[in-house]
Amino acid sequence: MKRKRIVWIGAALIVIAAILANAPGRTGSDDDLDSAQSVPGESAGAATEAENTETEAETTETEPEATDAAQTEATEPELEILDQSALGDTSAISYLKGRTETGAVVEIIDGVTYVDGYLLVNKTYSLPADYVPEGTKAALDGVQKSNEGLVLEAWEAWQQLQAAAAAEGLSIYISSGYRSYSYQGMLWSNYVARDGQAAADTYSARAGHSEHQTGYCFDLNSISSAFTNTAEGIWVNENCCRYGFIIRYPEGKSDQTGYKYESWHLRYVGQELAQTLYNGGDWITMEEYFGLASVYAAD
Ligand code: DAL
Ligand code: ZN
Repeated sequence: MKRKRIVWIGAALIVIAAILANAPGRTGSDDDLDSAQSVPGESAGAATEAENTETEAETTETEPEATDAAQTEATEPELEILDQSALGDTSAISYLKGRTETGAVVEIIDGVTYVDGYLLVNKTYSLPADYVPEGTKAALDGVQKSNEGLVLEAWEAWQQLQAAAAAEGLSIYISSGYRSYSYQGMLWSNYVARDGQAAADTYSARAGHSEHQTGYCFDLNSISSAFTNTAEGIWVNENCCRYGFIIRYPEGKSDQTGYKYESWHLRYVGQELAQTLYNGGDWITMEEYFGLASVYAAD
């Protein structure tokens, strides 16, 4: 009799332990997806630090249990693959999370898109009209354009890039940095009036669709193809990735980016991703790497 009771108590303890081990919030399939292409510690255009810290804390808490077979059953369903052609105006989406065919995690927070943590703007993904980057070298509130309107991390990397070029006897300077939503709209309208909309769309972004609104990009020297084969243009193409910059619209990739080659337009993404995208000189686009579309919703 006594023996039976001990067996029952033992069984009850096992059941309680199993219930506790399956407590909510322990695992998330997102973590696996996030790690597929994200760069640890990367903050180039990433979601706010507070958000990142929160995610990291959750990850740390859950990791020890993640290998347990019993836990696998309790995980959330995998992130759904986004139908990128059906997103519409992304700047109007308050929250959405999904993944691309290649496994990159797309998260839209208050109309701002992050892909594997990188702030992403192109023809598919836009920024709200009132989006102004924070933590920039020059304050941007109410500012239409600023060559010092770069997020500090990008600004510091730029200073190093410029100094490295100067050490080689080359002169590079920012000719267009931050541009507000309305300033970009004005520029685009002028190009449409001059060349027609179809042509303008191949080299100028519509309002809300320009990286110049992010605080992570700038144009160098002469904003024209004349820059490409200058000593500066050649050096920048070969060396910018060492400082965390990419040629955002590489040659021959307009079917992916939606824009013609721009040897003068640099985007800061941090050294790790920049070295990967440099690809020994055969640039990979953010669209290809992350599996992203870049097409206007209305087109
Ligand atoms: N020239 C690039 C595409 C822009 O307008 O942002
Ligand atoms: Zn540009």
